[in-house]
Amino acid sequence: MEKKVMNIMPRWVPLLGGVLGSTVCGLLLYAWSVFIKPFTTEFGWSRADIAMAFSICALVFGLTTFIAGKMSDKYGPRIVVIFGSIILSAGFILSGFIQDKWQLYLSYGLISGFGGGLVYLPPIATAPKWWPDRKALATGFAVVGLGIGSFIMAPLATYIITDPELGWRYVFIYVGIAMGIMGMIAAFCLAVPPAEWKPAGWSPAIATANSMATPGRDYLFGEAIRTKQFWLLYLSYFCGCFAGLMVISHIAGHGTDAGLAPMQAAAAVSTLAITNAAVRILIGLVADRVGTKLSLLIVFSLQVIAMALLYPAGPSVVFLGIIAGIIGWNYGAMFTLFPTACLQYYGPTAQGANYGLLFTAFGLAGFAGPLVGGLLKDITGTYYAPFIAGAIVVSLSVLVSIILKPPLNKA
Ligand code: 2OP
Repeated sequence: MEKKVMNIMPRWVPLLGGVLGSTVCGLLLYAWSVFIKPFTTEFGWSRADIAMAFSICALVFGLTTFIAGKMSDKYGPRIVVIFGSIILSAGFILSGFIQDKWQLYLSYGLISGFGGGLVYLPPIATAPKWWPDRKALATGFAVVGLGIGSFIMAPLATYIITDPELGWRYVFIYVGIAMGIMGMIAAFCLAVPPAEWKPAGWSPAIATANSMATPGRDYLFGEAIRTKQFWLLYLSYFCGCFAGLMVISHIAGHGTDAGLAPMQAAAAVSTLAITNAAVRILIGLVADRVGTKLSLLIVFSLQVIAMALLYPAGPSVVFLGIIAGIIGWNYGAMFTLFPTACLQYYGPTAQGANYGLLFTAFGLAGFAGPLVGGLLKDITGTYYAPFIAGAIVVSLSVLVSIILKPPLNKA
């Protein structure tokens, strides 16, 4: 039965699954700041208390992808995304009934974060298998929803929160139900193509040298993690996420500290969100032509410059918007480029487990980046030190991009 579905599925269907699944994750993660005001008003919680819920969610989300990837390789993506959607949706809906911080940490942070990780990873491991000729582009579709979800969520949640008949609890309930439905549809769009399947007219021999594809047989998970390239990619991913998530969690505060009105600072947040979404598809088109190594080198080099300019850009709404846009672009590009590089180096066989482990770098950075940014700002009094520290950290990613070479052939 499953095989029959796999054989007849047009290959745009798993792309749709990727867009839907990643949009669910975008609804979960990147518009979290809209809840700051209602939580402060109703419970009097501090920024750190509220941020802790996001940090737990990002950490659990990031660490879960490892399990999600292994399960997706073993049982197929569909069942993992079905379970993930149910858990994510239940956790999000439960968050609408919380009365205390620990309940939010449990429902949003642990339960929804866990479900989110299960929904996020399988489409990334699956969509490119249908597009061996356009791996990076297919990966872009599987992560573009992180941007789309945050676009939808920010105004939608604000609308529900400010409606006198509704309020913040209804955001969790309504959006939680929608997440469950969207996640289920995504799950049914996902299946692994049969081993011998390839697009009509395409053969691996015509893949370009730019793809950096490692010839020979695929690496098993245990083999992939024993290569130094895997841990170089891990370091580079952690450093890029560390700086990006530091900025995402502090940029509005930086703008207002520098004298901008809250609405002007919010414009920088929107610019960052737009480029963070757009790049995920566009960089796929570029990387399929120039390769992931050169693409990573360019985005990380640009990120060092942008991070160094972020502090002086603060007082100007235009300058800050431009720098935020560049940072969002370089940040979002990673979520297309790293899974693609992982696939090219180690092959599709254990991509779920390989990329699942690689992505735990996001979880650790999601916890550390915002926290270190806040601590350095509190200690030094301005955002100069945190953003320069971010630039220095991303320099390590530049270095890795220069020395990175595909692992040895495993024929
Ligand atoms: C992404 O933006 C969740 O951070 C991950 O794709």
